[in-house]
Amino acid sequence: MRSENKIFQGKTLAILSGGGDTPAINSSIEAVRNRASMLGYKVYGVLQGWKGLLGDGNIVDLTHQPYDGYYGGTALRSSRTNPFPSKKNPESRVPQVLRNLQKYKIDVLVTIGGDDTNGAAKRLFETEGIPVIGFPKTIDNDLRTRTLHRYNGKDIEAVLCPGFPSAGNAIMEMTANLRTTAESHSRILVLEVMGRDAGWLTGTAMFGGGSLGLIPEFEITEARKEVFFETVKEAYMNSKKKCLVIPVSEGIRWFDEKTGKVDVVYASSEVDEYGHPRFGGVSGVVASEISARLGIEARAQITGYYARSGHCRHYDRRLTSTLADKVVDLLLREDYGHMPVISRIVPHVELEEFNTTSIDMGAVGNKPLSEDYYDINKFRFTEAYADFLTNILDKPVFEEFKYDFPVVLP
Ligand code: F6P
Repeated sequence: MRSENKIFQGKTLAILSGGGDTPAINSSIEAVRNRASMLGYKVYGVLQGWKGLLGDGNIVDLTHQPYDGYYGGTALRSSRTNPFPSKKNPESRVPQVLRNLQKYKIDVLVTIGGDDTNGAAKRLFETEGIPVIGFPKTIDNDLRTRTLHRYNGKDIEAVLCPGFPSAGNAIMEMTANLRTTAESHSRILVLEVMGRDAGWLTGTAMFGGGSLGLIPEFEITEARKEVFFETVKEAYMNSKKKCLVIPVSEGIRWFDEKTGKVDVVYASSEVDEYGHPRFGGVSGVVASEISARLGIEARAQITGYYARSGHCRHYDRRLTSTLADKVVDLLLREDYGHMPVISRIVPHVELEEFNTTSIDMGAVGNKPLSEDYYDINKFRFTEAYADFLTNILDKPVFEEFKYDFPVVLP
């Protein structure tokens, strides 16, 4: 029998998801919804991020609805709407948000997002006193979550955000699959990976057999480009099957001979409401320069939205539950303006509430891939990064054709 004496009986908690989707958002929504409703809250979903709190509002009731947390993306849908004034949209829509929070009698808002969505929520908390709790989310894994990774007796500052483990597995598997076509044609495949200004996701390709890699954290100047080509040639010549898959981040800064400048390649000249441009196309540039310079056939493959798509993987499923356990702690203490994070990198079975902590939400800043994780001279991800990934990804899926054929002499 349902007790009417639950601690937050009569109160309403609403959940929204904003920014780029990930395969772990539905899992986060389900985990927060389940815990909040056990505490007595009526639970609403706000559709399309902040957009669902504009105009007349677009709100659904999640309280006693079945919810499939394994299904990827976000059933609440998403947008990059910014309620605060921006260059793209100078009008403040905060009054509309406040009106709807009041109209729908929302007592607490849980925002699932990166720095933009959670940053806007934090501003509402600070300027308007709206009770908010953040929930991290990004495939880029670049939110400064202050998570420590212990490796060889040293603590490395790492990051762990829901969405990254699933996206990392997708990139790992795609890299391993693409090796068979690269092998068949003795080609170099330049694999472009999302991640904006950070190389965390690009590094997951190493578990699928991606050897060398380029990340945005270290720019490719004219001089470094020469070293890179030399390194690629050597790696190709030394490879057993005469093929390479080279993962490159969409946001790498690459020296352009024509302009004499180091720059990123943009997919469009537009920016979103948070001022972010869209990257895309650098793999084509790198592949054609490899072909021209080294005389080795090279092709480009953009992984694009594939990383973000598909179902929630194992690690993410438990990660979202563990962080939702910490949300319960924040709700019980009415500790708003914060978000739960993992305090240290642990394997899947050790993900428990006692490995979490809470930090200020919003404007927590970006955390690039740590220097310990990438060898700038060899253009390779390090053993320390492999150790980090061992905790988070499924087993490496690097496979080789099992037979060597005897050569026939005439
Ligand atoms: O931030 C997540 C992300 O997938 C980035 O890796 C990528 O640059 C961007 O979103 C793409 O944005 P959109 O969904 O607007 O094309």
